[in-house]
Amino acid sequence: MSTKSIAIFAIVLWVASAAFLGFKFVSGETIQAEDGREAIVLASAERAFILDEMRNMLEAVQEIISAVNQDDMDTVRKIAHDAGMAEARKVPVELMLKLPLGFKQLGGATHTGFDEIALAADMGGELVMEKLEENLNNCVGCHAIFQLTEQD
Ligand code: HEC
Repeated sequence: MSTKSIAIFAIVLWVASAAFLGFKFVSGETIQAEDGREAIVLASAERAFILDEMRNMLEAVQEIISAVNQDDMDTVRKIAHDAGMAEARKVPVELMLKLPLGFKQLGGATHTGFDEIALAADMGGELVMEKLEENLNNCVGCHAIFQLTEQD
């Protein structure tokens, strides 16, 4: 093979793998679940990682409501910030590629929603509850579309 054809081959390979990664970034790894939702196929540790994050978010919701009821806005700000984008950045790249674009968008919107709640803490409990109600739409919306399953 001449140097030129090796160079062209390398470029073609590069474009193909970039296209493949782009495709994976959008499609993720999913199958149709029996209940009609899209099931994301993950390794068992990856599924455990996401479910753990889910339980943390439910806990954050409970703690935010409780702090609002006690008029403790410092706690609202801290809990909401910890559930915000700072938390989302911990997701490993390999797992990111298995998550379909819609999941990543709704997940991102949820974490951004918690950041907005942290900001709303300065403006009082009523706004915090409004923002929390809005953010819970992301939880409900995503659960209606996606499921998690383990590869065998
Ligand atoms: C981007 C999509 C998405 C968003 C947003 C989302 N979830 Fe989830 N959540 C899921 C999926 C998928 C599952 C697994 C459901 C299944 O496999 O049936 C799940 C599972 C859970 C579980 C069960 C955890 C376990 O250990 O079994 C809880 C609790 C939960 N979510 C809470 C929340 C709360 C609270 C929010 C919003 C603050 C939220 N989720 C937002 C997708 C999402």
